[in-house]
Amino acid sequence: LRDGPLKGRHVIVTSGPTQEAIDPVRYIANRSSGKQGHAIAAALAALGARVTLVSGPVSQPDPTGVTVRRIESARDMLAAVEAALPADAAIFAAAVADFRPEAAPTQKIKKEPGAPPPEIRLALNPDILATVAQHATKRPRLVVGFAAETEKVVEHATAKRLRKGCDWIVANDVSGDVMGGAENAVHLVTEAGVEDWPRMPKEEVAKRLAVRVAEALG
Ligand code: C5P
Repeated sequence: LRDGPLKGRHVIVTSGPTQEAIDPVRYIANRSSGKQGHAIAAALAALGARVTLVSGPVSQPDPTGVTVRRIESARDMLAAVEAALPADAAIFAAAVADFRPEAAPTQKIKKEPGAPPPEIRLALNPDILATVAQHATKRPRLVVGFAAETEKVVEHATAKRLRKGCDWIVANDVSGDVMGGAENAVHLVTEAGVEDWPRMPKEEVAKRLAVRVAEALG
Protein backbone atom coordinates (compact mmCIF):
# COMPACT_ATOMS: atom_id res chain seq x y z
CA LEU A 1 0.00 0.00 0.00
CA ARG A 2 1.30 3.42 -0.92
CA ASP A 3 1.40 6.51 1.21
CA GLY A 4 -1.19 9.10 0.32
CA PRO A 5 -4.40 10.83 1.33
CA LEU A 6 -6.37 7.57 1.13
CA LYS A 7 -4.01 5.58 3.36
CA GLY A 8 -6.05 3.47 5.78
CA ARG A 9 -9.20 3.69 3.63
CA HIS A 10 -10.86 0.74 1.94
CA VAL A 11 -12.61 1.39 -1.37
CA ILE A 12 -14.63 -1.11 -3.42
CA VAL A 13 -14.78 -0.61 -7.20
CA THR A 14 -16.88 -2.59 -9.68
CA SER A 15 -15.80 -2.76 -13.32
CA GLY A 16 -16.49 -4.47 -16.60
CA PRO A 17 -19.61 -6.25 -17.80
CA THR A 18 -21.45 -9.10 -16.17
CA GLN A 19 -22.21 -12.22 -18.19
CA GLU A 20 -25.52 -13.99 -17.70
CA ALA A 21 -25.60 -17.60 -18.81
CA ILE A 22 -28.15 -18.73 -21.38
CA ASP A 23 -26.67 -22.23 -21.33
CA PRO A 24 -23.11 -23.53 -20.77
CA VAL A 25 -21.81 -21.96 -24.00
CA ARG A 26 -23.89 -18.78 -24.44
CA TYR A 27 -24.48 -15.62 -22.46
CA ILE A 28 -25.97 -12.14 -22.62
CA ALA A 29 -23.93 -9.13 -21.54
CA ASN A 30 -23.48 -5.39 -21.88
CA ARG A 31 -20.67 -3.78 -23.83
CA SER A 32 -17.95 -2.74 -21.41
CA SER A 33 -14.18 -2.75 -21.70
CA GLY A 34 -13.58 -2.17 -17.99
CA LYS A 35 -11.17 0.65 -18.90
CA GLN A 36 -12.78 3.31 -16.73
CA GLY A 37 -13.40 1.08 -13.69
CA HIS A 38 -9.91 -0.40 -13.74
CA ALA A 39 -8.38 3.08 -14.10
CA ILE A 40 -10.37 4.24 -11.05
CA ALA A 41 -9.12 1.29 -9.00
CA ALA A 42 -5.53 2.09 -10.02
CA ALA A 43 -5.93 5.80 -9.23
CA LEU A 44 -7.36 5.08 -5.77
CA ALA A 45 -4.50 2.68 -5.00
CA ALA A 46 -2.01 5.33 -6.16
CA LEU A 47 -3.44 7.62 -3.47
CA GLY A 48 -2.84 4.95 -0.81
CA ALA A 49 -6.26 3.28 -0.61
CA ARG A 50 -6.74 -0.43 -0.07
CA VAL A 51 -8.81 -1.28 -3.12
CA THR A 52 -11.03 -4.30 -3.81
CA LEU A 53 -11.85 -4.43 -7.51
CA VAL A 54 -14.81 -6.67 -8.35
CA SER A 55 -14.66 -7.23 -12.08
CA GLY A 56 -16.57 -9.08 -14.74
CA PRO A 57 -14.70 -10.66 -17.66
CA VAL A 58 -12.41 -8.04 -19.27
CA SER A 59 -9.12 -8.06 -21.12
CA GLN A 60 -7.66 -5.29 -18.92
CA PRO A 61 -4.65 -6.32 -16.84
CA ASP A 62 -5.13 -6.37 -13.06
CA PRO A 63 -4.08 -2.95 -11.72
CA THR A 64 -1.01 -3.22 -9.48
CA GLY A 65 -1.55 -3.05 -5.75
CA VAL A 66 -5.25 -3.87 -6.03
CA THR A 67 -7.11 -6.97 -4.78
CA VAL A 68 -9.08 -8.29 -7.76
CA ARG A 69 -12.17 -10.50 -7.39
CA ARG A 70 -13.26 -11.92 -10.73
CA ILE A 71 -16.90 -12.81 -11.21
CA GLU A 72 -19.23 -13.54 -14.12
CA SER A 73 -22.85 -12.81 -13.21
CA ALA A 74 -24.56 -9.88 -11.50
CA ARG A 75 -25.54 -12.11 -8.60
CA ASP A 76 -21.91 -13.15 -8.19
CA MET A 77 -20.88 -9.49 -8.36
CA LEU A 78 -23.32 -8.57 -5.59
CA ALA A 79 -22.07 -11.44 -3.42
CA ALA A 80 -18.43 -10.39 -3.94
CA VAL A 81 -19.21 -6.75 -3.15
CA GLU A 82 -21.09 -7.72 0.02
CA ALA A 83 -18.23 -9.99 1.06
CA ALA A 84 -15.82 -7.05 0.62
CA LEU A 85 -17.82 -4.75 2.94
CA PRO A 86 -17.24 -2.76 5.10
CA ALA A 87 -15.68 -0.02 3.02
CA ASP A 88 -15.23 3.73 3.34
CA ALA A 89 -16.32 4.28 -0.26
CA ALA A 90 -17.72 2.23 -3.12
CA ILE A 91 -17.62 3.16 -6.79
CA PHE A 92 -19.87 1.25 -9.18
CA ALA A 93 -18.43 1.54 -12.67
CA ALA A 94 -19.54 -1.90 -13.88
CA ALA A 95 -22.01 -2.31 -16.74
CA VAL A 96 -24.24 -4.79 -14.95
CA ALA A 97 -26.76 -6.75 -17.02
CA ASP A 98 -30.20 -5.69 -15.84
CA PHE A 99 -31.69 -9.04 -16.81
CA ARG A 100 -30.57 -12.66 -16.82
CA PRO A 101 -32.10 -15.71 -18.44
CA GLU A 102 -34.55 -17.03 -15.87
CA ALA A 103 -33.24 -20.58 -16.16
CA ALA A 104 -29.89 -21.63 -17.58
CA PRO A 105 -30.04 -25.29 -18.58
CA THR A 106 -26.92 -27.32 -17.78
CA GLN A 107 -26.87 -28.76 -21.31
CA LYS A 108 -26.35 -26.74 -24.49
CA ILE A 109 -29.62 -25.69 -26.14
CA LYS A 110 -29.73 -27.57 -29.45
CA LYS A 111 -30.63 -26.04 -32.79
CA GLU A 112 -33.26 -28.51 -34.07
CA PRO A 113 -33.74 -28.53 -37.85
CA GLY A 114 -37.11 -27.03 -38.75
CA ALA A 115 -37.99 -26.14 -35.17
CA PRO A 116 -38.68 -22.52 -34.13
CA PRO A 117 -35.89 -20.77 -32.20
CA PRO A 118 -36.15 -21.10 -28.41
CA GLU A 119 -37.60 -18.28 -26.33
CA ILE A 120 -35.55 -16.93 -23.48
CA ARG A 121 -37.49 -15.70 -20.46
CA LEU A 122 -35.66 -13.02 -18.51
CA ALA A 123 -35.53 -12.38 -14.77
CA LEU A 124 -34.56 -9.10 -13.13
CA ASN A 125 -31.04 -8.93 -11.68
CA PRO A 126 -30.34 -7.30 -8.33
CA ASP A 127 -29.26 -3.64 -8.48
CA ILE A 128 -25.88 -3.74 -6.78
CA LEU A 129 -25.46 0.03 -6.48
CA ALA A 130 -28.94 0.53 -4.98
CA THR A 131 -28.49 -2.41 -2.61
CA VAL A 132 -25.22 -1.04 -1.20
CA ALA A 133 -26.41 2.60 -1.18
CA GLN A 134 -29.43 1.56 0.89
CA HIS A 135 -27.62 -0.99 3.05
CA ALA A 136 -29.06 -0.92 6.59
CA THR A 137 -25.81 -1.52 8.47
CA LYS A 138 -22.82 -1.39 6.14
CA ARG A 139 -23.44 1.57 3.82
CA PRO A 140 -20.07 3.07 2.87
CA ARG A 141 -19.77 6.76 3.72
CA LEU A 142 -19.44 7.63 0.03
CA VAL A 143 -21.36 5.70 -2.66
CA VAL A 144 -20.76 6.63 -6.29
CA GLY A 145 -22.72 5.36 -9.27
CA PHE A 146 -22.25 5.78 -13.01
CA ALA A 147 -24.85 6.66 -15.57
CA ALA A 148 -24.37 5.96 -19.25
CA GLU A 149 -26.97 7.95 -21.12
CA THR A 150 -27.55 8.77 -24.76
CA GLU A 151 -29.81 11.81 -24.16
CA LYS A 152 -30.81 14.26 -21.38
CA VAL A 153 -27.65 13.08 -19.62
CA VAL A 154 -27.71 15.37 -16.57
CA GLU A 155 -31.48 15.20 -16.09
CA HIS A 156 -31.47 11.40 -16.07
CA ALA A 157 -28.38 11.25 -13.85
CA THR A 158 -29.89 13.63 -11.30
CA ALA A 159 -33.01 11.48 -11.07
CA LYS A 160 -30.86 8.35 -10.85
CA ARG A 161 -28.86 9.73 -7.91
CA LEU A 162 -32.03 10.14 -5.87
CA ARG A 163 -33.62 6.88 -7.00
CA LYS A 164 -30.58 4.75 -6.21
CA GLY A 165 -29.76 6.54 -2.96
CA CYS A 166 -26.12 7.16 -3.84
CA ASP A 167 -24.11 10.30 -3.09
CA TRP A 168 -22.65 11.02 -6.51
CA ILE A 169 -23.36 10.02 -10.08
CA VAL A 170 -20.69 10.19 -12.74
CA ALA A 171 -22.72 10.68 -15.89
CA ASN A 172 -21.40 10.20 -19.38
CA ASP A 173 -22.87 10.60 -22.81
CA VAL A 174 -22.33 7.31 -24.62
CA SER A 175 -24.01 8.38 -27.86
CA GLY A 176 -20.54 9.04 -29.37
CA ASP A 177 -17.35 6.97 -29.29
CA VAL A 178 -16.90 6.66 -25.53
CA MET A 179 -17.70 2.95 -25.29
CA GLY A 180 -14.40 1.11 -25.43
CA GLY A 181 -12.62 4.36 -26.29
CA ALA A 182 -9.71 6.03 -24.50
CA GLU A 183 -11.48 9.25 -23.50
CA ASN A 184 -14.52 10.21 -21.52
CA ALA A 185 -16.52 13.41 -21.03
CA VAL A 186 -18.39 13.25 -17.74
CA HIS A 187 -20.59 15.30 -15.48
CA LEU A 188 -20.26 14.87 -11.73
CA VAL A 189 -23.70 15.06 -10.16
CA THR A 190 -23.67 15.61 -6.40
CA GLU A 191 -26.08 17.01 -3.82
CA ALA A 192 -24.41 20.40 -4.40
CA GLY A 193 -25.09 20.41 -8.13
CA VAL A 194 -23.52 19.47 -11.44
CA GLU A 195 -19.92 19.86 -12.60
CA ASP A 196 -19.14 19.49 -16.30
CA TRP A 197 -15.68 18.02 -16.68
CA PRO A 198 -13.84 18.53 -19.98
CA ARG A 199 -13.23 15.57 -22.27
CA MET A 200 -10.08 13.80 -21.11
CA PRO A 201 -8.44 10.38 -21.07
CA LYS A 202 -10.19 7.82 -18.85
CA GLU A 203 -7.06 7.70 -16.65
CA GLU A 204 -7.44 11.46 -16.02
CA VAL A 205 -11.13 11.07 -15.16
CA ALA A 206 -10.05 8.35 -12.73
CA LYS A 207 -7.35 10.50 -11.11
CA ARG A 208 -9.67 13.46 -10.68
CA LEU A 209 -12.35 11.25 -9.21
CA ALA A 210 -9.86 9.64 -6.81
CA VAL A 211 -8.77 13.08 -5.59
CA ARG A 212 -12.42 14.00 -5.00
CA VAL A 213 -12.98 10.77 -3.09
CA ALA A 214 -9.97 11.58 -0.88
CA GLU A 215 -11.34 15.09 -0.23
CA ALA A 216 -14.81 13.73 0.58
CA LEU A 217 -13.45 11.17 3.06
CA GLY A 218 -11.28 13.86 4.68
O1 C5P B 1 -29.79 1.88 -13.70
P1 C5P B 1 -28.51 1.97 -14.47
O2 C5P B 1 -28.01 0.66 -14.95
O3 C5P B 1 -28.50 3.02 -15.53
O4 C5P B 1 -27.47 2.50 -13.36
C1 C5P B 1 -26.11 2.53 -13.60
C2 C5P B 1 -25.36 2.45 -12.31
O5 C5P B 1 -25.91 1.41 -11.48
C3 C5P B 1 -23.91 2.07 -12.49
O6 C5P B 1 -23.18 2.63 -11.42
C4 C5P B 1 -23.97 0.55 -12.41
O7 C5P B 1 -22.71 0.00 -12.04
C5 C5P B 1 -25.01 0.34 -11.34
N1 C5P B 1 -25.78 -0.91 -11.47
C6 C5P B 1 -25.64 -1.92 -10.53
N2 C5P B 1 -26.41 -3.05 -10.61
C7 C5P B 1 -27.32 -3.18 -11.60
C8 C5P B 1 -27.49 -2.17 -12.56
C9 C5P B 1 -26.71 -1.04 -12.47
O8 C5P B 1 -24.80 -1.79 -9.63
N3 C5P B 1 -28.06 -4.31 -11.66
